[in-house]
Amino acid sequence: MSETYMTGLDHTARPHRFGIVGAGVISATHAKAIAALPAARLVAVADVVPERARAFAENYGCQAEPDLDALLARGDVDVVSVCVPSGLHAEIGMQAAAAGKHLVVEKPIDVTLAAADRLIHAARAAGVVMTVISQHRFDPGLVELRRLLDAGDLGRLVFGEASTKWYRTQAYYDSAAWRGTWEFDGGALLNQGVHYVDLLRWSMGPLAEVTALCSTQTHQMEAEDVALATLRFSSGAVGTIIASTAIFPGFAQRLEISGTDGTVVIENGEIVHRAFSSELPEPGDRGSQVGTGAIGQAAAANAAALGVASHAAQIADLMAAIDEGREPLVTAESGRDALEVVCAVYESAREDRAIVLPGARGEAQDAALR
Ligand SMILES: NC(=O)c1ccc[n+]([C@@H]2O[C@H](COP(=O)([O-])OP(=O)(O)OC[C@H]3O[C@@H](n4cnc5c(N)ncnc54)[C@H](O)[C@@H]3O)[C@@H](O)[C@H]2O)c1
Repeated sequence: MSETYMTGLDHTARPHRFGIVGAGVISATHAKAIAALPAARLVAVADVVPERARAFAENYGCQAEPDLDALLARGDVDVVSVCVPSGLHAEIGMQAAAAGKHLVVEKPIDVTLAAADRLIHAARAAGVVMTVISQHRFDPGLVELRRLLDAGDLGRLVFGEASTKWYRTQAYYDSAAWRGTWEFDGGALLNQGVHYVDLLRWSMGPLAEVTALCSTQTHQMEAEDVALATLRFSSGAVGTIIASTAIFPGFAQRLEISGTDGTVVIENGEIVHRAFSSELPEPGDRGSQVGTGAIGQAAAANAAALGVASHAAQIADLMAAIDEGREPLVTAESGRDALEVVCAVYESAREDRAIVLPGARGEAQDAALR
């Protein structure tokens, strides 16, 4: 991991004191990430189910508050991790921002652009720093891809693909009432696929047009368990998205970025193939590029199997952003960008037509003429 991304892990300023809202699956990752950071302390947790908050507090050595108001009233909470169902992120985040707390909001930013905009506006108005979790941007392969893109090593980007072929059981969707609903979750694309949608958008730039098809193949749920989309980027490049929780037994999450001068393929956060027109690969040297991606492979079939290093790196960056008075590496707006792509896929599938993204058409037409 590059030093840039680890900034904040070692700094010795006054600790940032965290409160977590929502004591479910992902909150454990936040607690472990905070515990791994010398500059962070976990002080309190709240959940609408008080026993969950109590059990969590016991496990992770913090205090359980009876409700959100009590957690937000604490003067010793500086940062709130929002770990509630996705459709509640804006509502809870806005209350925390109004109480002057900095925000770590789990992905996706929320489930509608209107809610995302309300939250972004509230954080800005309150003058708090906000990041939306996209922990895979801090995975080693993505740090390296960012470096290659910034150096222009891939040339003009031509094609980008984000693929999440995962497997979730019906029991997963039945494990909480919010899962798979339009109001609080969305389907395989908005919950599981959004990570690599964010990486694709971050690598390739804004989208101009999306044409999509969604389907619910194997689960009893409101939203889709398969989403497919073809994309035209504002740059003129093209691409595809696939996101599913119906593909047995679950495969590596994959990002493929191709430019005129090279291609990088990432699986589960590690570069598994890279080829540049300027280099003739030595026979056999591909082995050094192949990673096993054990953490991500586990997540392909198991919602609870997540490493904490990349969450820790993102939280460290948020703390450094607060200390240095700068934007975090993953801004609230980029969380909105990923949601915008997902909403365009859903809209295209629902209306059976291509969706032109706001403000993108002119740029795309210019690119097509070049
Ligand atoms: N970054 C990742 O890799 C990752 C992985 C899993 C989940 N997530 C995200 O984290 C969020 C939570 O997912 P989860 O799997 O932990 O869900 P979960 O159902 O396991 O936990 C959610 C918790 O929030 C509590 N809650 C609900 N409404 C609340 C409220 N108003 N106030 C306080 N607590 C409330 C619930 O009682 C529950 O304990 C989702 O947005 C999901 O997309 C991210």
